[in-house]
Amino acid sequence: MSKTDSLTDNEAAARLEWLATEIARHDAAYHRDDAPEISDAEYDLLRATNRALEKQFPHLIREDSPELAVGAAVSDAFTKVQHRQPMLSLGNAFAAEDVAEFDERVRRFLSLEPDAPLAYTAEPKIDGLALSLRYENGALVEAATRGDGRTGENVTANARTIANIPETLSGDAPELFEVRGEVYMSHADFAALNARAEAAGGKVFANPRNAAAGSLRQLDSGITASRPLRFFAYGWGDVSMVPGETQGDVLRSIGAWGLTINPAMALCDSPDALVAYHADIEAQRATLGYDIDGVVYKVDRLDYQRRLGTVSRAPRWAVAHKFPAEVATTVLDDIEIQVGRTGSLTPVAKLRPVTVGGVVVSNATLHNEDYIAGIGGDGEPIRGGIDLRVGDTVQVRRAGDVIPQVINVDLSQRPKDAKKFVFPDTCPQCGSAAVREEGEARRRCVGGMICPAQAVEALRHYVSRDAADIDGMGVKQVEAFWQDGWVREVADLYTLEANHGDALRSREGWGEKSATNLFAAIDARRTLPFARFLYGLGIRHVGRTTAAMLGRAYGSWQAFEAAMIALAAGDEEVRETLLGIDGVGGVLADTLASVFSEAVTVEHLDRLKAHVIVEDAEAIAEGGVFSGKTVVFTGTLEQTSRAEAKAKAESLGAKVAGSVSAKTDYVVAGAAAGSKLKKATALGVTVLSEDDWMRMADS
Ligand code: IVH
Repeated sequence: MSKTDSLTDNEAAARLEWLATEIARHDAAYHRDDAPEISDAEYDLLRATNRALEKQFPHLIREDSPELAVGAAVSDAFTKVQHRQPMLSLGNAFAAEDVAEFDERVRRFLSLEPDAPLAYTAEPKIDGLALSLRYENGALVEAATRGDGRTGENVTANARTIANIPETLSGDAPELFEVRGEVYMSHADFAALNARAEAAGGKVFANPRNAAAGSLRQLDSGITASRPLRFFAYGWGDVSMVPGETQGDVLRSIGAWGLTINPAMALCDSPDALVAYHADIEAQRATLGYDIDGVVYKVDRLDYQRRLGTVSRAPRWAVAHKFPAEVATTVLDDIEIQVGRTGSLTPVAKLRPVTVGGVVVSNATLHNEDYIAGIGGDGEPIRGGIDLRVGDTVQVRRAGDVIPQVINVDLSQRPKDAKKFVFPDTCPQCGSAAVREEGEARRRCVGGMICPAQAVEALRHYVSRDAADIDGMGVKQVEAFWQDGWVREVADLYTLEANHGDALRSREGWGEKSATNLFAAIDARRTLPFARFLYGLGIRHVGRTTAAMLGRAYGSWQAFEAAMIALAAGDEEVRETLLGIDGVGGVLADTLASVFSEAVTVEHLDRLKAHVIVEDAEAIAEGGVFSGKTVVFTGTLEQTSRAEAKAKAESLGAKVAGSVSAKTDYVVAGAAAGSKLKKATALGVTVLSEDDWMRMADS
């Protein structure tokens, strides 16, 4: 902890002011934006420093003291919920002495003798986000996040999609009961979600807590429903009746009504038993299947809890016993560059193996080149501007179950000949250019299909529904054929029958019929519309709309490819023409130039075109009702698929957007349309029924 003894009033006041601002900023980053910038341990240190200063200089306690507020302001995107009972936070204990002190404090407050019986419940502290569920007459009527403790966000529709949150309570639930607990995502579900997001080129979450928070705080509950969230009940708020006399009894009742309580909850009758419980759970931490950051102890008797009450932001009857940050010192032996499925280059620290919190660590993420250079990057810039060099002595941290990180360099141990690390500007896997776009933290290989690290993803993309749409070719098939060396690039799909037809027909799990179906599906895609073909190539920034737009601008594949090759060769006129197309910017032009400047890419395209005829692009209908308009589809369309409707709108010259804003011209609302329809109505955007849309689109 920082030294505070010799501070003057002025210095202490300045420091308290800084701490209040800093803590409020981190509260907002954590609670409101789901994007923490510092670790829990660092945050706890800030708070502890603040508390120590406030204790020493009580006359300087600020009105906006972090001790007087809980959490962060709520987002405007949700309606607000006033908590009838505040949602509190917890005081922390880090060492066995802190736990003994907690027990002494409780006894002192209650005037209990040191040997009088005093039991505590103990349970894991789930690293998720708090949720309050209000049940009236057994039915779920409202769900709210914690927000600042007094006002939370109404996330009822989203909470209803969580599988283990019951719509109605079974048995003899009281008239009114608010269940409080934690929403979280398991390790397995988190990994699968990120794998899907990575494959789709979407946003990857840093840890399960952020994934859970980001998923619960969605404006579209359809998205929440697709995220595998879970809930552990650990307490209650506003209630008409308390069904028991102890914490344990009430939680068991909540469990009997159909909610999930933590099976690891135990009753402990002494501080020693609490500390033993802490050690036991810490030993199980890696195998629990979800992130925890400590354990929580609560005085079991509710009459004691009532007498103890709360102080500022936390109850006197409970404490969180945190796990220590797991840090070890070792040597950075090498920096390796990994290429992800979507082409991003990630530097990985190869470490001299060291045990961190019971696990041997030999790799740690270095995030990106800025992180190595010591200027921040994705990670936490605690190295204070020091660049990392091979041979450095470094500190490594495993925070919870998150990937290990290098957090500190010991400059006094730096070898004299240690050289600055030069981040490569070519892909270590395929040699293509690795480009860092403005505003991006990572370099990306532009090799796409020809890069072995990206091949499976590129193949999967090519066969996907919006691209070549080859029936019967899913991720599983693509991966298997790639592993066997049957399909290493897209062109190989078209020679699959000729080269491996017999082998596939007799392959396990296949057979004559399914193989024939697959070959027919491939044959059906030997001719492709321009936009599908271009989109299928998986070039960064070339989504379906952009592909269609480029098609309309260049007409034929031949013209487009010739222009791109000229662009790559530095033809300024071609660049000007390209930039003149509505919707094309410098980033896209640069990407296209780098892609078409790779000889291997052009050769690969030649091999592919030997098998595929690319149709000329359709000219758009000019001047129709939808020309130049922004359209949003929401709800379930009954007469066509969403993909077909979207394609139709685009062919009519419309831009199809995913969310409603003031710039939206039309919202087409299918059955069970939800928040987007609401927003459209609120913004006065024209809403069309599916029938209206069909009529107008066909006219
Ligand atoms: S009890 C009145 N029990 O930790 C006491 N909290 O740092 C309220 N948390 O806001 C909290 N697991 O979101 C309690 N088993 C558990 C918990 C738990 C996770 C969270 C909760 C709370 C935060 C306090």
